[in-house]
Amino acid sequence: DWTMAEFRSVKIAEIREQVGDRRVICGLSGGVDSAVAAVLIHEAIGEQLTCVFVDGGILRQGEAEQVVGLFRGAYNIPLVHVQAQDLFMDGLAGVTDPEAKRKFIGKTFIDVFEAEAKKIGGADFLAQGTLYPDVIESVSFTGGPSVTIKSHHNVGGLPERMNMKLVEPLRELFKDEVRALGRELGLPEVFVSRHPFPGPGLAIRIPGEVTRERCDILRKADAIYLEEIRNAGLYDTIWQAFAVLLPVRSVGVMGDGRTYDSVLALRAVTSVDGMTAEAFEFPGGFLPRVATRIINEVKGVNRVTYDYTSKPPGTIEWE
Ligand code: XMP
Repeated sequence: DWTMAEFRSVKIAEIREQVGDRRVICGLSGGVDSAVAAVLIHEAIGEQLTCVFVDGGILRQGEAEQVVGLFRGAYNIPLVHVQAQDLFMDGLAGVTDPEAKRKFIGKTFIDVFEAEAKKIGGADFLAQGTLYPDVIESVSFTGGPSVTIKSHHNVGGLPERMNMKLVEPLRELFKDEVRALGRELGLPEVFVSRHPFPGPGLAIRIPGEVTRERCDILRKADAIYLEEIRNAGLYDTIWQAFAVLLPVRSVGVMGDGRTYDSVLALRAVTSVDGMTAEAFEFPGGFLPRVATRIINEVKGVNRVTYDYTSKPPGTIEWE
């Protein structure tokens, strides 16, 4: 695609001009956006870039392995893999308010990036895969007064006390354009076509308190759901599909016993840019099959529901 080829060379020149001979830290979230930003910046400034991948215990199943494999293996881009599960889980204990979760997670990511920057002798810039919709949605809601719907963790600038400046080469792009740029940069198709994943991760898919145990339950259920979607050949038709672990318990019967376990909601939407979305209509038989598998295979879940809400008035994520 000639447009993306052009964008690529223009951005590379801009990044070189902004950064000069200084150092950049890039936070990888596991998603497409930060991966594309990292590869682009690496092309621009090579060894002046250090990528940091933070595992706060709120990633999907297999995500850490995939990202580390891609960067260290296929690209040979230096990557620091930070195991920060304790830091995140301890800080999330007792936090139930959606914005409080988002703010804690955003701030903690920055703390970890700063600590890593210090270890490499300091960095002048922090790179992020912020997209155009992230910028708009954090600021206002279309057609209304300026109201914050959600604080996207990678938007809103940096804490005052921090000396790093931002490098955000994807700020003008929509998701489909980022994917086109990823292909232009040679990222593998399975990675480029991955569904979006929010920075605050599984924490905003667990309404109520986030614990290790609940993250584990959600990870298992989510993996089954996505495996069935891939097996049915539906993955690329859907903008985003995921499970949400609800803070509600229901009574069930399994074998001869009574169960009293959590309710799970499944969500799948179609969308062009994430700004509006429609619930996806699965073919008959699909959802019952997934529900049965999850209830049989995931201890702690005994009821599965499907979320038919469109955006607006809902949002894609529950928090
Ligand atoms: P909502 O839930 O606002 O989500 O309809 C729109 C799209 O944005 C993703 N999302 C995020 N992405 N940081 C991100 O990088 C965030 O804090 C964040 N919150 C939501 C969401 O998954 C959907 O694709």
